[in-house]
Amino acid sequence: MIAAYQARCQARVDAALDDRLQPPRAELERLYQAMRYSVMNGGKRVRPLLVYAACEALGGDLDRADGAACAVELIHAYSLVHDDLPAMDDDDLRRGQPTTHKAFDEACAILAGDGLQSLAFEALSDARGNPPSAELRLAMLACLGRAAGPAGMVGGQAIDLGAVGSQLDQAALELMHRHKTGALIEASVQLGALASGRADEHALKALHSYARAIGLAFQVQDDILDVESDTATLGKTQGKDEANHKPTYPALLGLDAAKAYALELRDQALHALRPFDSDAEPLRELARFIVERRN
Ligand code: IPE
Ligand code: IPE
Ligand code: MG
Ligand code: MG
Ligand code: MG
Repeated sequence: MIAAYQARCQARVDAALDDRLQPPRAELERLYQAMRYSVMNGGKRVRPLLVYAACEALGGDLDRADGAACAVELIHAYSLVHDDLPAMDDDDLRRGQPTTHKAFDEACAILAGDGLQSLAFEALSDARGNPPSAELRLAMLACLGRAAGPAGMVGGQAIDLGAVGSQLDQAALELMHRHKTGALIEASVQLGALASGRADEHALKALHSYARAIGLAFQVQDDILDVESDTATLGKTQGKDEANHKPTYPALLGLDAAKAYALELRDQALHALRPFDSDAEPLRELARFIVERRN
């Protein structure tokens, strides 16, 4: 079921992203090519899926959520382009193809990342399609700005780089993961809920508990896959965390305990969804997918 849902939402967000990544003039061809290369290349689209699934869980129309779905994937793609740069994780392979700075050059990759970030906020704020009200869009902009910025993803990346070579305890590791990966995943769920136009305080609270659990589980599983998967399946070089001396859950707890922790977080997420009916089934499926995925 998740595969069909994934395919449907992927096609939906890919069409919207394609639309937003058309070069407005010939001089910008190469920059847009680098941005398209970084986005239209077979990501799993987990964050847009969470946007759509959260909107659906509250009975919202999916077309209200298209801007937010684009925005979270654009922020995510930008974060990956910069994460792969030599000054950061120095990776050559992403989604099964050369990283953006390898396929183009470093300056172009930096600008492509910058451009994707700006486009994200444009996608969330403009009135293309059938967007939520201007008031809701303002709340959504604040939500994404917080999650993507220094108190969220960017802050997490700074903690990550500062922690290379050191042993973090579990609380410090959790803080890093909640920032670098959890924040954008939490925002994806909240944006989907806000986009529905039907979010009340209780629903937002329950969805927040769900999102906190899967946000952390997502990075725990990413750490696990870096240890036990292979490069072809991952589409990125396996074993890079150990090679780069990154603190990770398997390194801290051992592989088995890290796996048990990911499952515990999945169960916490499912528990948080108890007040919801079958409209929340895609969210439940996504919680399972996040800890069962192989790439
Ligand atoms: C990888 O994210 C980077 C992390 C935040 C752990 P994904 O596993 O969602 O990567 P894509 O988008 O499918 O390539
Ligand atoms: C990246 O975490 C989180 C981001 C904000 C991009 P990782 O460095 O573990 O992601 P991968 O393993 O390179 O995809
Ligand atoms: Mg990194
Ligand atoms: Mg990395
Ligand atoms: Mg990783």
